[in-house]
Amino acid sequence: MPERLESPEKGTYPAYGIWLYKNNSSAIKSLNKQLNPSAHGDRLWDSAYLLMDYFTQHPLKKKLNILDIGCGWGPASIFMAKQSHKVTAVDIDNQVFEYLQLQADLNQVDIKTLQSNMDKLTKKELSKHDIIIGADICFWPKLTKSWLALLKRAQKAGVKKLVLADPGRTTFLKLVEECEKHWKCEMKTWYALEPKKFEGSLLIVDLKS
Ligand SMILES: C[S@@+](CC[C@H](N)C(=O)[O-])C[C@H]1O[C@@H](n2cnc3c(N)ncnc32)[C@H](O)[C@@H]1O
Repeated sequence: MPERLESPEKGTYPAYGIWLYKNNSSAIKSLNKQLNPSAHGDRLWDSAYLLMDYFTQHPLKKKLNILDIGCGWGPASIFMAKQSHKVTAVDIDNQVFEYLQLQADLNQVDIKTLQSNMDKLTKKELSKHDIIIGADICFWPKLTKSWLALLKRAQKAGVKKLVLADPGRTTFLKLVEECEKHWKCEMKTWYALEPKKFEGSLLIVDLKS
């Protein structure tokens, strides 16, 4: 049986070694009064737990620079920062960053944030990172095109790998199909067990191929 951990604060729950705020916690309710994220960055999304589970089972061998695209409230960023990686969290919507900071503070990790549309991430910016991650950020048809273009820039910039988690939306499946034409890819069905069982898909692209 896993160790029963004491909650660091009221209204929080554990998942894969980090703590996150419940939607009905007073900390989140108080931010909700001031902020109104507009591109689905309005809660924690379950696909992030797939990334946490994947990187728990496949830990990175050394400390790397990680770029979390469409970070939202930052669950995947916080998990990677807790593993001592250097994380930059990108989102188009600057309204998400206060939620991210709240939870980064709860977990005592530092995360660099960057407000940007993923379409605007330059080769120069991408070259600072070893691996790109994302959780549930391929939900509009235009995002399939944005990811493909970004991966082409990332490959030229020397980024090694993408690990993207998704519930299995058709826009994500289309991206898998497109990526298979360009790189060595794997699509895995994956499930997470914390904070509850959730099944989805992972796309792993080897940008060195
Ligand atoms: C469904 S939420 C997922 C958030 C987070 N990854 C998680 O797992 O909880 C999608 C996030 O992507 C952001 N987003 C949408 N389009 C984007 C774009 N073109 N560039 C960067 N971020 C974007 C939204 O603002 C939102 O925070």
